[in-house]
Amino acid sequence: MIKDEILRLLIKSKQGYVSGAGLAKRFRLTRSAIWKHIKILAKEGYSIEAAPSKGYRLMGIPDIISIADMERALKTKLVGRKIELLAETESTNILAMEAAARGAPEGTVIVAETQTAGKGRLGRQWVSPRGNIYMSIILRPPFPPHKAPLVTLMAAVAAASAIRKYTGLRAEIKWPNDIFIGDKKLGGILTEMSAEPDRVRHIVLGIGINVNMDMSFLPQDVAEAATSLMKEKSERIDRTGLLIELLRELDKWYDVLLKKEALVLDEWNGMNMTIGRRVVAAGLSEKIEGVAHGIDHEGKLIIRLDDGSLRTVAAGDVTIVKK
Ligand code: BTN
Repeated sequence: MIKDEILRLLIKSKQGYVSGAGLAKRFRLTRSAIWKHIKILAKEGYSIEAAPSKGYRLMGIPDIISIADMERALKTKLVGRKIELLAETESTNILAMEAAARGAPEGTVIVAETQTAGKGRLGRQWVSPRGNIYMSIILRPPFPPHKAPLVTLMAAVAAASAIRKYTGLRAEIKWPNDIFIGDKKLGGILTEMSAEPDRVRHIVLGIGINVNMDMSFLPQDVAEAATSLMKEKSERIDRTGLLIELLRELDKWYDVLLKKEALVLDEWNGMNMTIGRRVVAAGLSEKIEGVAHGIDHEGKLIIRLDDGSLRTVAAGDVTIVKK
């Protein structure tokens, strides 16, 4: 379509002007026909400046998630072969768990622009204003349930690598699967599972990343401990592009996990910010303080207490003690 061709030229010329007469000549149209295409692009959310003697200049792209662009760009084996985008939902994890129980194919992805009852770890709420990424993916690993935490660690590796590749920012992982930049939380992962005693039926990986949101939507205590990609980069981030990168990384790292778990643990170790630091781990029943020593082959955190003994924590929350 000519409109898309014009857009391509505007994007290519970065912030430079593209002359109206030039466009008219190129597409064998009148200048007013070009103007009509420009108006359609503006309606779609592109901000285009029209300067009488200079031409058109692209000032901003709309902050929308485009399923068509994602489907066009993705050549993944499994992840994102089917993608559903919703303007609003309670929680993408709830929808994905329901879809998985009805037999939705492995790799199905559900994305929402906003969630009215987003779920965080440990029964917390995940405040979900517009502008961010909220997505859930259905997986059916051929694993016994005790190995499910490895899927969560894999997701953290995929999310941190996608953010690093797409934005150049140094995203790190706080055990087990919080995504941090510096000492601020950028995103989180909530894994839910349906299992029999010896086999996983399905796992839903829910990933939330703060991208372009207005931070004032967050409760003050959450906002103080959080950051977003827009805040870190001082510019809007194209969420479609980031989602594509995220799904590619999930596809890659899930495949690695199924073939060689140790490689995922190695990558996790390389990106984590917990090991070697003094931490307080609040498990379900007790608090343990010591130095994070490492993770075991199932992803549990090993802490060296001050008396030198080692303790293993399977679930809970970890706070890094500031020096
Ligand atoms: C955490 O507490 O750190 C985990 C947050 C996980 C949030 C994501 S957003 C998409 C998916 N749907 C939900 O309701 N929660 C997860």
